[in-house]
Amino acid sequence: MKIFIDTANLDEIRKALSWGIVDGVTTNPSLIKRAVDQLKKLKVRKIDIESYIKEICLAAGKERPVSLEVISLRAQEMIEEAELLYRKFNPLAGNVVIKIPINTYTRMGGVSHYEGLKAITHLSREEIPVNTTLIMSPEQALLAAKAGARYASPFAGRVDDYIRKKLGIQFRKQDYFDFDLMQKITKDKLTRFMDSSGERDAASLYLDENIKEWKDLGKDNGISSGVHLVEEIVNIYQNYRIKTEVIAASMRNGRQVREVALAGAHIATIPFNVMEEMIQHPKTVEGIETFSQDVVPEYRDLFEE
Ligand code: G3P
Repeated sequence: MKIFIDTANLDEIRKALSWGIVDGVTTNPSLIKRAVDQLKKLKVRKIDIESYIKEICLAAGKERPVSLEVISLRAQEMIEEAELLYRKFNPLAGNVVIKIPINTYTRMGGVSHYEGLKAITHLSREEIPVNTTLIMSPEQALLAAKAGARYASPFAGRVDDYIRKKLGIQFRKQDYFDFDLMQKITKDKLTRFMDSSGERDAASLYLDENIKEWKDLGKDNGISSGVHLVEEIVNIYQNYRIKTEVIAASMRNGRQVREVALAGAHIATIPFNVMEEMIQHPKTVEGIETFSQDVVPEYRDLFEE
């Protein structure tokens, strides 16, 4: 699995690049805002965002795609913005990918649901690579691929938030949640209820209000977690040998990264703090301390020239 860094913070990008583990960069307007706020905090007087993004593209270099997102909602405007971003930044290192939301409908603007797809189709025909963002269902991922997107980004963490909230569970954004356990609990509840239902016929059980409620417990339209979403998209793409690559996005903790890797995601885009978390284990620290204490002079001499 490739690893992208999910940030617009140049320092974080440079640090992670120096570790040799980064295959690409993804940004979005919220991440750009966070980077700009950071620069303001550092009292940078005039923030030249164009030069800043140029530095990101150059730092990433030829082999590592950098996703930059459009800001409009209508297809024609998104296409124009995408072409502008591509013209401005792609010549530097040839690594620009344009992020288009799958569905740009907004109640405020009354724009059609299909503006994103129209823009993806147009840009893909022009051979401008697209990363389809804000994917929350396998169906959306299928449509993004049909429209020709190079990448599809399911937002695993946000789907987890949605399900946890529906369950009424209090959580912090970075908390790991055992969605498999939740499904086991649900299944167990259903089995016990059915076992105690005696000779009731299948149709009446199927329509029973308790069963209806419990079978969807902890699910969003059949999806039981962000990782499950990624897994389903990977399976659909494999079924039809679709070339679109799955970028597991909205990663919140190391264990979630492990699970999307097991699910077969081509790429995970990971925030800097999650990358830092991924390297940690107390027994590794303890092991290093013991090894250091156990170095005998005879062995140390080996390293003296
Ligand atoms: O890559 C998408 C990501 O930036 C969104 O993350 O944690 O805000 O859901 P998050």
